[in-house]
Amino acid sequence: MASSAEMRPGRVVNRRLAGEDVVVYRTQSGRLRAVRPYCPHLGAHLGHGGRVRGENLVCPFHHFAFGPEGECVQTGYGTTPPKARLGVLECREAAGLVFVWRHARGAPASWEIEEPSTDGFGPPHCTVRTLR
Ligand code: FES
Repeated sequence: MASSAEMRPGRVVNRRLAGEDVVVYRTQSGRLRAVRPYCPHLGAHLGHGGRVRGENLVCPFHHFAFGPEGECVQTGYGTTPPKARLGVLECREAAGLVFVWRHARGAPASWEIEEPSTDGFGPPHCTVRTLR
């Protein structure tokens, strides 16, 4: 989905996974998070203008803020946050890469990614190519 190096604190990227957009971001404290892209308020796409503020992802439209577990923690109107939440996807980092788990029925990951041995190898190099 992304390289760990490009996901510096505060970064938000939009990536495709199995035909759907996924928004990946890193909080200011360094937590990596992956969420479904659409704001539960009025459906804005958080991968286009969403920003990290502290540990929260803030929607670009009405500035509702969502915590690392997807819960709405603040509205742009100063009102009590609704019970709405973002869909959170499991994500991991290994070998300098970001992996996101997506299951068609929402089942949790049934296996873990192990950190591979890099003995005898240099750091990973990442490139992105678009295949037609
Ligand atoms: S659409 Fe996201 S806060 Fe309104």
